[in-house]
Amino acid sequence: MNMDDFFDRLLTVRFTDDRTGVDIIDQTLIPVEMKRIVLKTKEEVWEAIKKLRVRGAPAIGVAAACGLAAIARRIETADYDEFYKEFKKIKDYLASSRPTAVNLFWALNRMDDVAVKNKGKCVEEIKNILLDEAELIRTEDIAISRNIGEIGFGLIKELKKEGSEVGILTHCNAGTLATAKYGTATAPMYIALEHGFKGDDMHVYCDETRPLLQGARLTSFELHNAGIKTTLQCDNMASILMKSGKIDIIFVGCDRVAANGDAANKIGTSGVAILAKHYGIPFYVCAPSSTIDMNTLTGKDIPIEQRDGEEITEMWYKARMAPVGVDVYNPAFDVTDNELITGIITEKGLCKAPYDKAFKELGIGGGLC
Ligand code: MRU
Repeated sequence: MNMDDFFDRLLTVRFTDDRTGVDIIDQTLIPVEMKRIVLKTKEEVWEAIKKLRVRGAPAIGVAAACGLAAIARRIETADYDEFYKEFKKIKDYLASSRPTAVNLFWALNRMDDVAVKNKGKCVEEIKNILLDEAELIRTEDIAISRNIGEIGFGLIKELKKEGSEVGILTHCNAGTLATAKYGTATAPMYIALEHGFKGDDMHVYCDETRPLLQGARLTSFELHNAGIKTTLQCDNMASILMKSGKIDIIFVGCDRVAANGDAANKIGTSGVAILAKHYGIPFYVCAPSSTIDMNTLTGKDIPIEQRDGEEITEMWYKARMAPVGVDVYNPAFDVTDNELITGIITEKGLCKAPYDKAFKELGIGGGLC
């Protein structure tokens, strides 16, 4: 597989050529269909994020920023105050789409800062600056995940022995489909290929990730298509897999890291981390610094999205598998306590506990304010 073609085909989110809309792959259709859709209105962007047509923390941030800039373009006024009032309404509306991934708020706030900083310029010029800023958020994300990949690849390389594969486990999809290019948890694998590793030098085990199957539908799809040796297992098989000695290292993505290193990621991640501790397997969280929220002090302060119960009772393919009316508990994320995390890989470097100190040393001071 030519990796340039691969990444072109899986380009998650971008502006349309005329920058009047956001062009995304509708991830709800993968792996059955690969279809791109264009989002032009604030309702379309909101719905695409809410319904997981575009998902994964960095990709949500990029989609929201591009959406905000494309929609703001159509605000019809030459008066800055009127423009900004309308811009802020759109921003707040998009911010209400999902609560956990901090990248959404980080990207929208960065756009807001640009709109405020450029007060005094004419509205048409500000609109263009906003479009450029959204594109910058997208291209920066590519460089960020590349750096994360280089650091993660270093860890894979240390585990590689002549004639044997490195066993890697991942949960959910923190892949190319969740970012602007390499993914976060998958970046070490894609960068390994760039450095001459063969697809079967690594063996990636993908948790299917109930209830919405991001691991099965998306991660196993992309890694398998990239020519990386890939095995899919149900979430409840992770323990036997780790016990068998097949897993050397675990990489997961994350949606928000608190200042103390507690990390929220897709539901089930904390269970994987507890198992990893039990079996003595290194467990790494891959996080762009925009996912580290120094204003959220601990994991307890991270808002956890609760989703519709039908995602469990009817699952992805809308086939009923539980009685109508049964009560359902469906948190979309859980928090992995910092003491279970071997290290947090950011684009600026590998952080080890104590995390607050490590973040400060790397100049990571991001947050919502
Ligand atoms: O509900 P989703 O599919 O948006 O959840 C995605 C995850 O939990 C990812 O692991 C996380 O956003 C990291 S993406 C690089």
